[in-house]
Amino acid sequence: MKHRALYTGSFDPMTNGHLDIITRSSRMFDELVVGVIVNPSKKALFTKEERVRMIQDVVKDLRNVTVDSFEGLLADYVNAGNFDAVVRGLRATTDFEYEIQMAQMNARLFDKGIESVFLMTSPEYSFISSSMIKEVISLGGCADGLVPETIMENIKSKYR
Ligand code: COA
Repeated sequence: MKHRALYTGSFDPMTNGHLDIITRSSRMFDELVVGVIVNPSKKALFTKEERVRMIQDVVKDLRNVTVDSFEGLLADYVNAGNFDAVVRGLRATTDFEYEIQMAQMNARLFDKGIESVFLMTSPEYSFISSSMIKEVISLGGCADGLVPETIMENIKSKYR
């Protein structure tokens, strides 16, 4: 049986922390879909299409990874997509509080057998978030090594 997993988030934009989780989880599952969600409670810098394209470019050498986007309830997308698992990264204990609530709610909403799976973010990325990266770059600070180079160029050109 093939195991298919979803790694979801806003990815506005994707960071090296996200890439770390994608690379590691791509080794754990036969197929990994990176699902860009349109989160109406967040004001995005990049359009959904831009985010998908940027991620596709970065993960093009990971042969079992594809990129998609969706809106609405995560569980609807997961149940319809024949997934076995939803991967989430944990950066710090503060993520845990939010993630356990979400996982427990999703456990009620997901079809039977679909699991939430958590990977610890590698320590070098445990302090970053997409918003923090955007803020630093928008103010002229250096975020080298924290986002893939192609994405860095895209962020800089948004603020130019
Ligand atoms: N490395 C670096 N940064 C990371 C990271 C990692 N490994 N993991 C998360 N982050 C950052 C993200 O960049 C993001 O930063 P930002 O807030 O500055 O944009 C922040 O941590 C939060 O990320 P995440 O938890 O993935 O939030 P999200 O808004 O991107 O996505 C969903 C959360 C998609 C899981 C959730 O909103 C969802 O399920 N929405 C659908 C609606 C729904 O079904 N609701 C009911 C849920 S029970």
